[in-house]
Amino acid sequence: MDTNKRPETMERITTVELANAFIEEQVTAVRAQVGDGKVLLALSGGVDSSVVAALLIRAIGKQLVCVHVNHGLMRKDESENVVRVFREELDANLIYVDATDRFLDLLSGVSDPEKKRKIIGAEFINVFADEARKLEGIEYLAQGTIYPDILESIKQAEGKKAVKSHHNVGGLPEDLQFALVEPIKLLFNDEVRVVGEALGLPHAMVYRQPFPGPGLGVRCLGAITRDRLHALREADAILREEFDIAGLNEKVWQYFVVVPDIKSVGVKDESRYEGWPAIIRAVNTTDAMRATIEEIPYAVLHKITDRITHEVDGINRVLYDLTPKPIGTIEWE
Ligand code: XMP
Repeated sequence: MDTNKRPETMERITTVELANAFIEEQVTAVRAQVGDGKVLLALSGGVDSSVVAALLIRAIGKQLVCVHVNHGLMRKDESENVVRVFREELDANLIYVDATDRFLDLLSGVSDPEKKRKIIGAEFINVFADEARKLEGIEYLAQGTIYPDILESIKQAEGKKAVKSHHNVGGLPEDLQFALVEPIKLLFNDEVRVVGEALGLPHAMVYRQPFPGPGLGVRCLGAITRDRLHALREADAILREEFDIAGLNEKVWQYFVVVPDIKSVGVKDESRYEGWPAIIRAVNTTDAMRATIEEIPYAVLHKITDRITHEVDGINRVLYDLTPKPIGTIEWE
């Protein structure tokens, strides 16, 4: 039997009851697979890895070792939240690695988007592998692979070309070859969320908008600098706060700020004030292949503009990107 193929008879998980049945089934399967072995998981805080973590904590408790790598390109407070939820609420065995300097030093002066992605992807593996080597007795690696990932790799094996190289975890070095534990690999995104809520994960974590592996690194356009990255993170946090207040977080699939490496002239306190523009992008899509632009009420845009230009150092304009996909991709890089 091909264990990477979703059986046609598998019912779509749409209710808590179905989710609970799935969870029980997987708890039994994981216990049978790993026995008293130790399992390692790269916990990014994204929906998929969070759900796998919660499921494995339910199945094997402290036999699961989670590693959260903060690459310095996370959104505001994101790493802190991952640590809080998993250590404090779920009592996870969690190793937190602040690798900000490693990543930002390597990225210094690099402006090509694909080079940036490759550096971030490779360094992620280096940091994770360094942590894995420090641990003893790990036999298994858990991954948040989901069914669309399997379908995508089949498409790529058939020779279809990707527009961007999406780097997540993968390709650990030879000395770190573990057996894989992939409990949600036959689930679609919506089912993962239902399972996540049934496992008691916070709603905001389970319904979190997608966030690219290279994080803010592909939104701080061109060569990343710490000051521009900081401005981007603060502006993005304001955007998310105001979208929450306006209820747009439930209506818009992905929304974020991009800060390009250009400056324009502005005026502040009656003096010349050169700053970067913050570009807002808010899109809806079902499969990320095509995307439409949301009509955001002007009042919300005005408030966001007012807050970002007053509260974020270095930003003196706010723009709204009206470009659908295609022709624009969702991310700018
Ligand atoms: P694009 O920009 O290709 O984005 O229209 C489609 C979706 O993919 C996300 N994205 C990435 N996700 N690693 C990821 O894990 C990446 O390198 C990457 N690039 C884009 C993007 O946020 C959107 O949801």
